[in-house]
Amino acid sequence: MTETPKKLFIKTYGCQMNVYDSDRMADALAPHGYQPTQVMEEADLVVLNTCHIREKASEKVFSELGRLRELREEARAAGGPGFMIGVAGCVAQAEGDEIVRRAKGSVDLVFGPQSYHRLPELIKRAHNGATIVETDFPTEDKFEHLPAASREVTLARGLTAFLTVQEGCDKFCSFCVVPYTRGAEVSRPLEQVLAEAHNLAAAGVRDLTLLGQNVNAYHGLDTSGRTVGLGELCRRLADIEGLARIRYTTSHPLDMTDELLAAHRDVPALMPYLHMPVQSGSDRILAAMNRRHTRADYMRVIERIMAVRPDMAMSGDFIVGFPGETDADFEETLSIAREVNYASAYTFKYSTRPGTPGATMDDQVPEAKKTERLQRLNDQMTGQMRAFGQSVVGRVLPVLIEKKGRMPGQVGGRSPYLQAVHMEGPERLIGTIQPVEILAAGNNSISGKIVTVAEPKSVSVIESQVAMAQA
Ligand code: SAH
Ligand code: SF4
Ligand code: F3S
Repeated sequence: MTETPKKLFIKTYGCQMNVYDSDRMADALAPHGYQPTQVMEEADLVVLNTCHIREKASEKVFSELGRLRELREEARAAGGPGFMIGVAGCVAQAEGDEIVRRAKGSVDLVFGPQSYHRLPELIKRAHNGATIVETDFPTEDKFEHLPAASREVTLARGLTAFLTVQEGCDKFCSFCVVPYTRGAEVSRPLEQVLAEAHNLAAAGVRDLTLLGQNVNAYHGLDTSGRTVGLGELCRRLADIEGLARIRYTTSHPLDMTDELLAAHRDVPALMPYLHMPVQSGSDRILAAMNRRHTRADYMRVIERIMAVRPDMAMSGDFIVGFPGETDADFEETLSIAREVNYASAYTFKYSTRPGTPGATMDDQVPEAKKTERLQRLNDQMTGQMRAFGQSVVGRVLPVLIEKKGRMPGQVGGRSPYLQAVHMEGPERLIGTIQPVEILAAGNNSISGKIVTVAEPKSVSVIESQVAMAQA
């Protein structure tokens, strides 16, 4: 299929799933002549891939649309055709009609996450003038219709990649819009995931992060119709030549099964860094949030994880100022963050989302209180993150060398804990995993020294060199 070359600009908001989706939209449009551009003004199509999770994220879309409209008018005043404007993602799904109403004819396309495979057809229809709104949850599997990226495109995206294996959520936490924007929980079939992972690995991807709103609830079917959990999926992925590192996010404590923990015990490629949010340390608030577990339940999950991987570092999410949260509840949040000893965390002020049960609860916490609590939690977390950084100084870590460094003769890479590491080393090491002694840890990156250059491709050899260097 060859069509006139066109340019596509996608601006991505929100979580990693949106980052993945933006790439898949670009892949869907590539056979139709669309090449990505970083310059909005030269685009034929501008897509905002939006996030609805908090009020601020969702309001950004409306201000960005105003700016886009002006830019387009300027382009048209200068005699050009201007660009087509599309809104994708979770705001499109949740507020499609509102976008059309507020945009007053300036948006050409509004389409939800389940329609990305239909993008080429939607664009053709939008050329006829009217705004197209596509926010149904179709029955067909979009992934079966989304084309894969070419090898060159995958290579250009780097050695690390995302792969969505599960979408949607059935948990209905009382603060959260995801079950409404992404729909019911659906897992992709095993073979489909393995085939995509094979393509990524063949193009050079070494570090793969499996994505899902509730990724450890993964229950894909294999070709014989048997249900496969995330643990088995990880084992199968670890057998793929070239895939050295496997991660997954975001996991829910209730779905941390024995099968998955056994995979953490047995599969060295599963990285010892886990994002498993708790949101609050108070049982009262956890119940009001409908998280369906207590603080003690969560701590027991942590214990089971540490029993199979004592070197596991944890990361989490917290919400402060959920309706009814008292000072005492908040103290419990500070204390669970210390008790778990998180290496990192994302912290948020509770944001009221229309349509969720939290929005109509009594005892909404005043904004000033939320701000004060967020500040205290952030101060504590900054200290914990710094301490974690310091804790790796002096250790030898396997580092995936990803790119040239800022200085000549330097390379940059990533530790198992997703820390950016820079060190002296030749460019030919890009794509390999090297044993690196960590020398110093700053706020945003750490520096190290390659212990012995590991030339072989085999991951197990490198892992054993790391073990030797540590001994
Ligand atoms: N599925 C994941 C979370 C996805 S949303 C889980 O269950 O952990 C990512 C994070 O955004 C959540 O963990 C939560 O901390 C935050 N979040 C979600 N809704 C929010 C809201 N209404 N206000 C503030 N933060 C919110
Ligand atoms: Fe939202 Fe809860 Fe589902 Fe996570 S588990 S996506 S927080 S409803
Ligand atoms: Fe936002 Fe949708 Fe992700 S609401 S966090 S982009 S699933």
